[in-house]
Amino acid sequence: MPTVYLNGKFVPIEDALIPVTDRGFLFGDGVYEVIPAYGGRLFRLSHHLQRLQNSLNGIRLDNPHSDGEWKAILNTLLEHNRGLGGADNDQSVYLQVTRGSAAKRDHSFPENVIPTVFATSNAIADPDPAVIEQGVAAITLDDIRWQHCDIKAVTLLANVLLRQQAVDQNAAEAILIRNGLVIEGSSSNVFVIEAGNILTPAKGPQMLPGITRDLVLELAGQHGLPCQETDINEDRLRGADEIWISSSTREIIPVTLLDGKAVGQGSPGPVWKSIIEFYRTYKESIRYGTADC
Ligand code: PDD
Repeated sequence: MPTVYLNGKFVPIEDALIPVTDRGFLFGDGVYEVIPAYGGRLFRLSHHLQRLQNSLNGIRLDNPHSDGEWKAILNTLLEHNRGLGGADNDQSVYLQVTRGSAAKRDHSFPENVIPTVFATSNAIADPDPAVIEQGVAAITLDDIRWQHCDIKAVTLLANVLLRQQAVDQNAAEAILIRNGLVIEGSSSNVFVIEAGNILTPAKGPQMLPGITRDLVLELAGQHGLPCQETDINEDRLRGADEIWISSSTREIIPVTLLDGKAVGQGSPGPVWKSIIEFYRTYKESIRYGTADC
């Protein structure tokens, strides 16, 4: 059982209780982050904390902690849960800030409420070898979400329903299309490889600016792989040589089946094999403390 952080205290998860009047529960009025930690070292923490700040700004909620305080809280949490992380001590941190709890249910912001701050961590396993070998299936779906998908809001009902449609069709992800353009996955960003070029949609309010996405672009740039942020229409998606999805928990995964049809050769492609090597080398450099996270 993990220890969790709740409003200033580290407690066993079964003792972590919040009032039913919490606005996270009643309205989905809160934001969150998911941050991996390899060998107990938080991966790209400053990027995640900057995105948390942007999300909090997006919902007009003050950040309850400074970056230094967040770092101390999350490192203490990782230390408490060290036993869960296995021999490598790889864990994934989930943190959530909601607008707090007010006596009366009212859509508008209550006055003088204290935000609810919650964080937990769980073991993360290395990616499944079968996935690495074969890639995964994805389906395309209409993006039914709202217009502020750059805010990492806990209000995830649309994402939940979209992902479940993928699962119902034995697929690992739903790739979302809005106005004919690829946006992102239900919980991942999307890359398309066309004649050796790595393409991904540009950031904007329609998608979450993924930390893994930024790292992929950074690594591609460092290693001279051509990449571009650009519009990707459905035809380009379906004609791609390779498709990848990326997220903090799933890393970079090749999609080899799209809507039941093979992507490219139907197996993980050569550009993915390069990027995943660069990614793993970077990850190990964080784990062993030879690079700055
Ligand atoms: N989700 N797009 C969406 C809609 C996401 O939910 C996520 C990640 C990403 C990838 O972002 P990052 O590389 O920063 O993890 C893109 C997390 C993992 C989740 O909701 O659990």
